[in-house]
Amino acid sequence: MTLLRDDALSAAFDQGSAAYDRLVAASPGYHADLRRSARRLGLPDGGRGSRVLDLGCGTGASTAALLAAAPHARITGVDASAGMLDRAAAKEWPGRVDFVHAPAEDLAGRLEPGSFDAVFAGYLFRNLTDPDKALDLVRGLLAPGGRLAVHEYTLSGSPLHRAAWNAVCAAIIQPAGRLAGDAELYRHLRRSVIEFDTAPAFAARLRRAGFSRVRVLPLPGWQTGITHTFVGAGERS
Ligand SMILES: C[S@@+](CC[C@H](N)C(=O)[O-])C[C@H]1O[C@@H](n2cnc3c(N)ncnc32)[C@H](O)[C@@H]1O
Repeated sequence: MTLLRDDALSAAFDQGSAAYDRLVAASPGYHADLRRSARRLGLPDGGRGSRVLDLGCGTGASTAALLAAAPHARITGVDASAGMLDRAAAKEWPGRVDFVHAPAEDLAGRLEPGSFDAVFAGYLFRNLTDPDKALDLVRGLLAPGGRLAVHEYTLSGSPLHRAAWNAVCAAIIQPAGRLAGDAELYRHLRRSVIEFDTAPAFAARLRRAGFSRVRVLPLPGWQTGITHTFVGAGERS
């Protein structure tokens, strides 16, 4: 299969939105890991006075993680899939949270340059046609001193972790996706991780894009060597 991109990917997420929250709730550590990555943004004072962008917010799992890490922040969630975003917007949020339906690539002109203190992207980047263009855009949206945290399936490079990912997909993720009627989306998930950057390659991509103080941080449990948090600062190094 070819990977899903752009409109085809949004259509698959529209379709997958009905079962999404149920499937991720069954994935051990899903919400706790997002919260861990959100805390790694290191927003001071519970996010008071900070503006945070949740790029690819989906049904709001990452938005909720950001809110837990920075309860006083103003958070804008952006997603290309109307189906995913509708489910996010239908949840209860404080008035400081809002949602925008747009592809990440179309945000220039819709959001003020330099207006965000932090950008978070949970499970977004391996889905993008042009991740470098998106990183450039993110840097443009960050205020001086602003920070990026990317939470992503990025294999360590060890054949062991690649085998573990394939085994978890074959035994658990893809059968669950098929049962939910979303076989194509979960085939895409498996392939997109295999074909995307390893963790060291994504860190190098961030540095090339101009992010400084880039760090790659592990996540616990079955995600070890499979999912990482990447943090970096928007200034040029
Ligand atoms: C795997 S979900 C993750 C959702 C959420 N961040 C979470 O952690 O649960 C990926 C989300 O990225 C969105 N997405 C994919 N490509 C996008 C793009 N180019 N611009 C904006 N959102 C996109 C999808 O619609 C989907 O909701």
